[in-house]
Parts: sequence; C-alpha cells; structure tokens
Amino acid sequence: MISPTTLSAVHAREAARFRERHPRCAELARAGAGHFLYGVPMHWMNDWGTPTPMFVREAAGARLTCADGHEHTDFCLADTAAMFGHSPPALARVISERASHGLGTMLPGEDAPALGALLAARFGLPLWQMALSATDANRFCLRWARAVTGRPNIVVFDGCYHGTVDDVFVDLVDAADGRGPVPQTRASLLGQVSDLTARTRVVEFNDLPALQHALADGSVACVIAEPVMTNVGMVLPEPGFMEALRAACTATGTLLLIDETHTISSAPGGYAHAHGIRPDFLVLGKAIAGGLPCAVYGFDAALGERMRKAKDEAPPGHSGIGTTLAGNMLGLAAVRATLADVATPQAYAHMIAMAQSLEAGLQSVVAEHGLPWSVSRVGARSEFQFCAAPPRNGRQARAAMNDSLEAAIHLYLLNRGVLITPFHNMMLCCPVTAAADVDALLRAFSACLAELLGQTPVQSPR
Ligand SMILES: Cc1ncc(COP(=O)(O)O)c(C=O)c1O
Repeated sequence: MISPTTLSAVHAREAARFRERHPRCAELARAGAGHFLYGVPMHWMNDWGTPTPMFVREAAGARLTCADGHEHTDFCLADTAAMFGHSPPALARVISERASHGLGTMLPGEDAPALGALLAARFGLPLWQMALSATDANRFCLRWARAVTGRPNIVVFDGCYHGTVDDVFVDLVDAADGRGPVPQTRASLLGQVSDLTARTRVVEFNDLPALQHALADGSVACVIAEPVMTNVGMVLPEPGFMEALRAACTATGTLLLIDETHTISSAPGGYAHAHGIRPDFLVLGKAIAGGLPCAVYGFDAALGERMRKAKDEAPPGHSGIGTTLAGNMLGLAAVRATLADVATPQAYAHMIAMAQSLEAGLQSVVAEHGLPWSVSRVGARSEFQFCAAPPRNGRQARAAMNDSLEAAIHLYLLNRGVLITPFHNMMLCCPVTAAADVDALLRAFSACLAELLGQTPVQSPR
C-alpha cells in the first residue's frame, strides 16, 4: 500500500531536511573522520539512518539536544540504558558525590551489603555478582552454568540477542538445498573462526516441542532467554510458554538464564518476578545503573553452593569470569541509588501508564490509515511491526522487517523532534515522559503515514 516511489521521495526529502538542519553535526562528523573508524566512537553509531551522525550536546530526562541545538523527545532512551530518563537527579547526585572518593580499588565498597539486600528484596534471589555490561554478565553465567553442570551445550531462541556473547549467535536459516531451517552461525559476525553451532542449539520461541527435543539428551547446561524477545522487533510469549520453559529446564536438570536487560521495563522486579517464573540465573544491565557501565546477575543459595564448589575444586588461577573494573565502587553506588531512589514503583506506574496510552494511540493511528501492522508492549516498552498479527517467533518477526520503511519513518520522526530506537521500531517511556510527548509522537507518526500513503503530498524540505 506504500509505493516504493513515495517511500524514496519521503526518505530523500527527510535526508535533505536533516542535512539542512544539522550543519554542526556534519562539521563534527568531518572532524571525527580522521580519528575514529567510520568517524564515530562505535561503528554502529552510524546505524541511525541519518545522513551524518547526530552528535549529542546534552541529554536530560526525556530530552536529548543535538550539537545543532535541536531538542528531541527521546523514546529510544539509549536502547534501555536510560529507561529511567537521562541522568536522573538522584543518581547524578550520588555519582558526582562519590566520584571524588575513589572509583575502582579492587575491594568491595561499603555500599555492597546494602546493595545486595536491595537486589535480593527486589528480584527474589539471595546471591549476586557484578559485571560491567549485560554482555559480560551473560557470558559469565554461561561459563558458570557449564562449570556447575559439566554439560557443554546451550540453547538459544532464534532471533535472540544477549549482547556480544559468542555462544548465542546462532540462527535458524533456510538451507540452500531446501532442507528447511537449519542452525547457522550468524553470517554478519566479524572474525568468527569457530562453528558456533557445535555447542549452541537454536529453537523457535513459543515452540515447546522443539525446546523439549533440544533438551532431551541431557547435554544442555543452560537455556538463555529473554522472557519477551525484544531484539527482533518484539515477540511476546504465548500463555503458558514461559512456565513450560521453566518446567522443561527443571525436568532435564538444565539451568534457565533469564536475561531481563530489556524486560526490566515490565515491572520493578522484572518480567519473571511479576509472572512468578523462577530463573536459575537472572541478568540485568543497562538501566540497572542508569546507563553507567554496570550489570548484575543473581541466583539462589543452592546454585550458589554449586558455583562455590566448582570454583573451589578448580585449579587455582584464572576462572575466565570477571574483569578488573567489575564491581567497582562507583558502579555499586550507582546501582544502589537506581534501585532505592530512581526505579521506584511510582516511576514504573507513570512509565507504564504513558506506554499504555502510546500503545493505544499507535493502534488507532495504524487502524485509521488502514495499515496491516501490529503493536506490542511489555511494560514501558512498545513496538510497532509491519505485520498484521504480532509475530510468534523470530522468523515471523524478521519477515516483518522492512529496512527502508523503518529508515524513512525514523528520519521523519527525528526531523520533527522525536527519537525512536534505530534498529527496529521500539519506543520506551521514562518517568518524565509527558502525555504531551506521547501526543507529539503520535501526531508526527500519523503525518508520516499520511505522506507515505500518498494521502498528503510530499512537501519539499523546509
Ligand atoms: C536482552 C539483552 N541482553 C544483553 C544485552 C547486552 O547489553 P550490553 O550491550 O550493555 O552489554 C542486550 C543489548 O542490547 C540485550 O538486548
């Protein structure tokens, strides 16, 4: 229903508009080009689809101001790292107070016991360890899982992302010889030399028989899962699936790692806690320290005992778990402040109310324009997808993706002061997202669809 000609005309017009309004960003991009690969500190910072990267002057609360001085309402929120708003005052205060009293000492800061108690009370697991990123936390948990079970294999869900953890990059891909979907190491990985399918089994989300089959031989140490898939668009678990996943793991002695890095958007204790699903390992990162590099992983006392035994019985030396800066004092204080004063039940109530109205608004706009698109939500996190029914697995979610349509919509919104996440169509509401911000997003989205559908003429750049 959206003609390719109109789509490229809108996209070209929006690219021209961005260039016209961002001379300073273009200048910074030119200045950075000689010193950073691709001109930016991380290569993926170019994946926003803007003609040049949008450099940031400041981010506070739900707002982000670019180097050209344009203010944007931020629904990307650093892809969850700033889910509680950019630099929440209670956190910024603690960070600046603590910054002059030592950062990393390789010793536990005095915040440690109080932080442990906060984590235990909130997430229902008594024991915790720290990492610097959710990637590392997942990697460490997989190593622990293999150590305590003595099993070599893991199971992932097709379309998953758990950070740059080598083991998880296995997809189900249609074989060239027509054999149907077969496991394959993710083709886009750089420098990959080992065949990851040797130790990683991959099944579709919401496919219980496939999961049970993958676990049946008792060689799987761990299933790593988001309770709602959030990195391939959004895929919600069907009723009973997470409970069945838990039961299948228990029945086969397989550990269940629930990665709540994104689904912490669900509720103060995360999705699993809210739905009564007990993980063996629980991983949280990104927003847990408000965007300061920090992550945590939790487990129960029995698993802690098995971990202690595995470590005690191993030869002395490197465990392969931990980094020098993990558990640093500033990070401890930041997680403590986030849990105590930022990620409060009141903050969640507001975020989720805003996201509910965003979800309803997106559904109305899509319906008004007669588009066969769906809208999904997990707590404060919403997503629109280019398919009539919400996808039930990674394959369906991937099939619904349309890079050029996404790029045009994202750039259109950005040019009207609204940021959504660059890699798919995710929008987060934070504790200071206002109803007017949601309305502004919906107005811009509606105007964008009208233009894409040819209902209003494509204007030349202003
Ligand atoms: C579910 C999930 N887990 C882990 C990670 C890794 O987080 P980080 O990049 O902060 O290590 C991500 C990143 O997007 C994620 O989406």
